[in-house]
Amino acid sequence: MTDVLTETEAGTQSEGQGFCCSKTRRAVLLGAAGAGATAVLAACGTDTTGTNPNGSDFAADPEPAGSTGADAGGGSGGDSGGAAGGATLALAADVPSGGGIIQGDYVITQPTSGEYKAFSKICTHQGCEVNEVADGTINCPCHGAKFSITDGSPTSGPAQKALTETQVKVDGDNIVAA
Ligand code: FES
Repeated sequence: MTDVLTETEAGTQSEGQGFCCSKTRRAVLLGAAGAGATAVLAACGTDTTGTNPNGSDFAADPEPAGSTGADAGGGSGGDSGGAAGGATLALAADVPSGGGIIQGDYVITQPTSGEYKAFSKICTHQGCEVNEVADGTINCPCHGAKFSITDGSPTSGPAQKALTETQVKVDGDNIVAA
């Protein structure tokens, strides 16, 4: 009996300790899970609560951001990109025969009567802007390069390449990009 009691007591004690510990662990785990679940629920609750502000933001953001961006980007890009195609570069009457003018990004010349040419005004030597058309040449002030008004080829100075030509045509009173 004493042995049995002792065993029972020992068993009870060990079971009790085991139960105690298991219960404690379970309680801790359950508590943690409960806390986690509570946290998750709280988070969900917050998110759910935040749906209204988010919904308001979504409703507010796309309209001004989308419409402004698309309109501004498309309009600006289209205007800038399409400037060369069919754009008026100069009035034909403003371009002297045997000479030329510098207007906007171009040098527009009339090598012979009724024949018009247009070139980039960016010098092919080091990128300065040409600033004069005189005596049959287009002249760069930086290092003295001179280019032909007929084909933009270098005639003197350090430049080795011709000015970039833009094809043009006469449209009424205007010289326009072809
Ligand atoms: S950049 Fe025009 S001559 Fe040098």
